[in-house]
Amino acid sequence: MTGSHEKNRRYWDASAPGWERLRDRDGLWQTCHENPEPAFEGRALETIRSLVGGLAGKDVCVIGSGDNYAAFALAGLGAKVTSTDISRGQLAVAESRASLLGLDIDFVRSDAAHLDSLPDQSFDLICSTNGFFTWIAEPALVLAEVHRLLRPGGFYVFYDVHPFQRPWQDQVGETRMDKPYWDTGPHGSKGDIPTVEFEWTVADLLNALAESGLRLKTIIESPAKDSRFWEGHSYEPGSHPELLDWKVNPRAGLPVWLTVAAQKAEA
Ligand SMILES: C[S@@+](CC[C@H](N)C(=O)[O-])C[C@H]1O[C@@H](n2cnc3c(N)ncnc32)[C@H](O)[C@@H]1O
Repeated sequence: MTGSHEKNRRYWDASAPGWERLRDRDGLWQTCHENPEPAFEGRALETIRSLVGGLAGKDVCVIGSGDNYAAFALAGLGAKVTSTDISRGQLAVAESRASLLGLDIDFVRSDAAHLDSLPDQSFDLICSTNGFFTWIAEPALVLAEVHRLLRPGGFYVFYDVHPFQRPWQDQVGETRMDKPYWDTGPHGSKGDIPTVEFEWTVADLLNALAESGLRLKTIIESPAKDSRFWEGHSYEPGSHPELLDWKVNPRAGLPVWLTVAAQKAEA
């Protein structure tokens, strides 16, 4: 594990109880196995369905699974899901929720850059969701692992906060740049438990994808559907729809989600 990933692991282990309380407030973990749409943004679920087709019986891995909404949603659609995360604390919360819901998911603690315990060519689909790549020091290492783990013809689909949203100060209504787009970090956090974060550009992510041998299938750049993105909530409904108008909130004129689908070559 790289030094920065080890720091981030400690941060996420310490943050797991607070994150659990936060996600108990929106309560989506209790319903996304029956209603998968809200577990995804950026048309990622639509993309998965159009590329992979039915998920029943498919072997699926979610990397950096965090709140596990995507893992629960995919399990609810019939996939055999392996959920991996670097943080034992995050996985423990997800495991206890899965057991309450009767979901049969394999939970594996692992750095996404070194998924050594998972065998080659064991998945039809691998996913990562919003707020994953910011924790990753070398996206190429993760994408090499994704390539190794996919069966020939298998798909990797991720969506994340669009890199064009990263350089701005965290406010709406004004557009003050905090740092240039190309300042990808590492950025340290100011909290009690230090983190090491990265703000990868679109080129950084797509070049790492190309290096891995995966072939780009689709790239989607989408706006926020709900003003909650601008209000700082991930799932609770927003209450300021005017923030979706770029004339009120100029950052709304840039894409909010980057969704990428790639495929491993057929044998
Ligand atoms: C903000 S969450 C994003 C994932 C998910 N979309 C969510 O909202 O919970 C970040 C997750 O990535 C995990 N993580 C951070 N670094 C990782 C790494 N190197 N390998 C695997 N997981 C990692 C953290 O433990 C945390 O659960």
